[in-house]
Amino acid sequence: MNNTFKTIALAVLLTSTVTACAYTTDPNQNNNQDHTMDETNTNTASDSEDSVQSNNNNDEGAENDMNDAEAIVWPEVNLQKKDEGEAVVQLQKTLITLGYVVSEDGIYDDATTRAITDIQLQLDNVLAVGVYNAETRKALKNMDIKALETKIKPGKELSNERSEPVSGSDATETAMITNPYDQLALVNKANALPKDYVPIDLVVPDVRFPFEEDYPKKQLRKVAADALEALFAEADQAGITLFAQSGYRAYSTQVFLFNRYAEKHGVEEANKFSARPGESEHQTGLTMDVTSESVDFRLVTDFGETPEGQWIKEHAADFGFIIRYPEGKEDITLYQYEPWHLRYVGEKTAQEIMNNALTLEEYFNEK
Ligand code: DAL
Ligand code: ZN
Repeated sequence: MNNTFKTIALAVLLTSTVTACAYTTDPNQNNNQDHTMDETNTNTASDSEDSVQSNNNNDEGAENDMNDAEAIVWPEVNLQKKDEGEAVVQLQKTLITLGYVVSEDGIYDDATTRAITDIQLQLDNVLAVGVYNAETRKALKNMDIKALETKIKPGKELSNERSEPVSGSDATETAMITNPYDQLALVNKANALPKDYVPIDLVVPDVRFPFEEDYPKKQLRKVAADALEALFAEADQAGITLFAQSGYRAYSTQVFLFNRYAEKHGVEEANKFSARPGESEHQTGLTMDVTSESVDFRLVTDFGETPEGQWIKEHAADFGFIIRYPEGKEDITLYQYEPWHLRYVGEKTAQEIMNNALTLEEYFNEK
């Protein structure tokens, strides 16, 4: 890694503005309170335009509504990024009817993920994860075309605008992740989170920690917290006593940590085990470092050889987690082996990754 470049790239990353959206900074907000992303949201003119439209009850309007109603079909199966087929085509047709700009190619791509995430951010009591899941389907099927058109404004929460990648003079570039809510977001040395991204649904999972204090690092996003609770419960049943050591980390915390490690070990060495700010999965709220008493609750590679570490390797995927930095894949992940670092990606993806000994990069054909 070219240090000079990385320093420049980081400086650009830190100073660049996020054009697509501004993220909430209050982790206690729920899904629907994050209205800071779209200027039109505060624009009363657009509200009155909407009401003019919905009062337009002439024959033509009624006929259009009928056509639209027929085009609204919510597939009965769960769908997520990389899925392909007729059900995806159906979902894309429905999204297009609602006003989203996606292609009808039957591939659940980034644009489809963005559209679903944008919808989830506008629904009540639905987690914004980018996966077309049962919870989302149920909420959407409960709404008729009028309710959908009133409630869902395409691009309101996640605009289609893409930020410019942060690029340098060599071949490496760091792109800005524009849909950080996506539970399948690839966060690594080439794809960074916006510095102001704070997950909107952080909670403290009801699991064992090796400390009593209410540190922010206890938190995870709801979807990952639920899964971690289930994983710990199953481990308990098997006589395996796990401890959660470190979950959500704010961008500013990562700045502090990375600088401290860099001072001690040098930037290049530090970056083998500590992510630069924006490049840490801990900022997603989808990652928890787990450990055991047998390694003194430390985050060390020996954890992988303990019964707890072995159990994790075998069962994490059943709960939607992957060991994100596996042994022998350092050339791909660009981080050292970390048997303790669990990343939530959902069961389907986790099974595929863990059963085939992949990394998230390989899963997305990024390496
Ligand atoms: N230890 C991992 C790479 C992080 O800092 O996020
Ligand atoms: Zn970690």
